[in-house]
Amino acid sequence: ALDEKRERIWAIKRRLGKRLFIPGHHYQRDEVIEFADATGDSLQLAQLSQDNKDAEYVVFCGVHFMAETADMLTTDDQHVILPDLKAGCSMADMADIDQTEYAWTVLQDMFNDTILPLTYVNSTAAIKAFCGRYGGATVTSSNAKKMVEWAFTQKERLLFLPDQHLGRNTAYDLGIGLDEMAVWDPINRKLEFEGDFERVKVILWKGHCSVHEKFTVPQIEQFRRDSPDTTIIVHPECPYEVVQAADLNGSTHYIIETIRKAKPGTTWAVGTEMNLVNRLAQQFPDKKIVSLNPTMCPCLTMNRIDIDHLLWSLEELENGNLHYPITVDADTTKEARLALERMLDRK
Ligand code: 13P
Ligand code: SF4
Repeated sequence: ALDEKRERIWAIKRRLGKRLFIPGHHYQRDEVIEFADATGDSLQLAQLSQDNKDAEYVVFCGVHFMAETADMLTTDDQHVILPDLKAGCSMADMADIDQTEYAWTVLQDMFNDTILPLTYVNSTAAIKAFCGRYGGATVTSSNAKKMVEWAFTQKERLLFLPDQHLGRNTAYDLGIGLDEMAVWDPINRKLEFEGDFERVKVILWKGHCSVHEKFTVPQIEQFRRDSPDTTIIVHPECPYEVVQAADLNGSTHYIIETIRKAKPGTTWAVGTEMNLVNRLAQQFPDKKIVSLNPTMCPCLTMNRIDIDHLLWSLEELENGNLHYPITVDADTTKEARLALERMLDRK
């Protein structure tokens, strides 16, 4: 039955040709990646959406915020489709626009209008628009350092949404001390910081990725004890202590390239989503590649896009029904594009 479904998808791809473009994020299932016209990390997928002017239909194999970004970077006559609307991102959901507007009012008052907002692309279009409106930008895990450096050329302080870990890890790498970082708690609506407010350089939004929070320092210690030749490589969405204890950290693209270039016979423990770790292990059988967390860490929302949803949405599309079209309204798009372009222009 799987082969029959695969054949139906290949047939649709042949019929639609260049009218159809399927981007796939590295965390997607193998059964979906098989049909991707391009794979990439978040930055690469955003750039591809901006560059591709041919495809009438972009069937996005990734999560909702990525499809929104693709919609905002494509033209009005290109349709962006997400095969399952439930493929969201729990981290993006941790910053809603009302909470953000409230925090902004309080913080700008507290710090005399000295803050620039930056948002990880893992956020809603409304949050990107908010950043665009106030002179800020989007960042991804592969350009966060560059973007934080840029932010400090604009303002004295920054508000980093919605991932506290990527924000903390990036700021720390740039020489900002943990004692210069405060955390905004959107649920209790207060700033967590002890000491003199004047010292605060970075305000981290209290959000996180529930997949990457499952990697821990004791897991790393166990590898150090049991298999000391293992190189530990993690995604910067992991907590600060984990990134500090690891050997290397970077975006999904960085992880793939680092392992691809490594010598045969080397051993790797990888702290990121399970589909990517399994694919790396299959692709590079000459290296030993395992997950840092032995119980594995799937991203449940990325995994919602499976061959059944992809096939269904493609067959419906050929029948003239779009499931599910992702469209961001014109006002939001205009402001969010400012934030995205400030990032994309700084390649
Ligand atoms: P990157 O592929 O940009 O590293 O992002 C990882 C991620 O969590 C996407 O949701
Ligand atoms: Fe969101 Fe984390 Fe899943 Fe990425 S891995 S889509 S950040 S929940």
